[in-house]
Amino acid sequence: MATDWSMEQLSLDFLRVCEAAAIASARTMGQGDRKFSDHVAVEAMREVMDTVNMCGRIVIGEGERDEAPMLYIGEEVGRGVKDGCPDGEIFPEVDIAVDPLEGTNLCALGANNAIAVLAAAERGGLLNAPDIYMDKIVVGPSSRGRININASVKENLQGIADGLGRDIDDLTVIVLDRSRHKALINEVRAAGARIRLISDGDLSAGISAAVAGTNIHALMGIGGAPEGVLTAAALKCLNGDMQARLVFDPERLGVDKDKVPPREEVLARLKEMGIEDPDKVYGVDDLAPGKKVIFAATGVTDGALLKGVRLFGSGKRTHSLVMTTESRHIRFIDTVHVEGGPDTVIRF
Ligand code: FBP
Repeated sequence: MATDWSMEQLSLDFLRVCEAAAIASARTMGQGDRKFSDHVAVEAMREVMDTVNMCGRIVIGEGERDEAPMLYIGEEVGRGVKDGCPDGEIFPEVDIAVDPLEGTNLCALGANNAIAVLAAAERGGLLNAPDIYMDKIVVGPSSRGRININASVKENLQGIADGLGRDIDDLTVIVLDRSRHKALINEVRAAGARIRLISDGDLSAGISAAVAGTNIHALMGIGGAPEGVLTAAALKCLNGDMQARLVFDPERLGVDKDKVPPREEVLARLKEMGIEDPDKVYGVDDLAPGKKVIFAATGVTDGALLKGVRLFGSGKRTHSLVMTTESRHIRFIDTVHVEGGPDTVIRF
């Protein structure tokens, strides 16, 4: 297998993969069927993924093999797996984390910030995170090294404000609108920062926190652990920072005991996945330890970072973010996908 592969080529292939998932799900926008929106995104992503010259393995996907027919954890994907390598060619071996439709409800309701996302790295380059919750603080490059998940909300906000050279009351923090965040929201308010409560989509919110000009300075609170790994892959390319910790204690999640699997069961599952310390504080390099990390995302609905898919008679237009740790290029790519032959009148 190749180890000296170019991330540049692969990142553009992954762009096609995300674009396909975004276009498929965008066609279902507002239909109120989140499962169907997700299903078409998965199918489209899977189909294009198999045209990529790689031996890929899904490490974060749609679930375990028995619960997901496609893009399940452990599934082998790519041309190298399906067709074998053509004579003389050697394909890169990569681990892949996917979220074909991040913000299924957002797409189903036609709300902002649904995206199709993928991250990849050399084997072992992405944490095989369990599908449980994760507490996260995500910030941009200016606040790097100034966050501590064990410190108070106010201390963290002060560190972020110092990094940005402003006061706490000039900060905007994104928090998922969940009852489990009641105390967090109160603490952010008491410290004086502004809050934007979102119904879903802490992954795109985390990336926005690392991009200057979005007017989002931090993401705080508990969301999905798989989304946490994808966020870390993006932050690694953006020089952002993040601290995170797995959460499965019903009290911290604000739910009854019978709503989550028993602690012993979770601990056994974590051990199986190689996680010995359930209280470990993860940084960007723990979540995405790879040296060769690729991140790609395409907007499904309009958002703070990416525009949603636009459909018109002779094609579609997509807006994507593609970046790698190697090239140091952060590409915002606006693609017009032309349908039809040379006589097509291209309007966009
Ligand atoms: P889906 O795309 O799977 O619908 O997830 C959306 C999301 O809002 C994530 O962005 C977030 O990490 C997670 O769900 C939060 O989970 P919950 O809705 O259970 O609080």
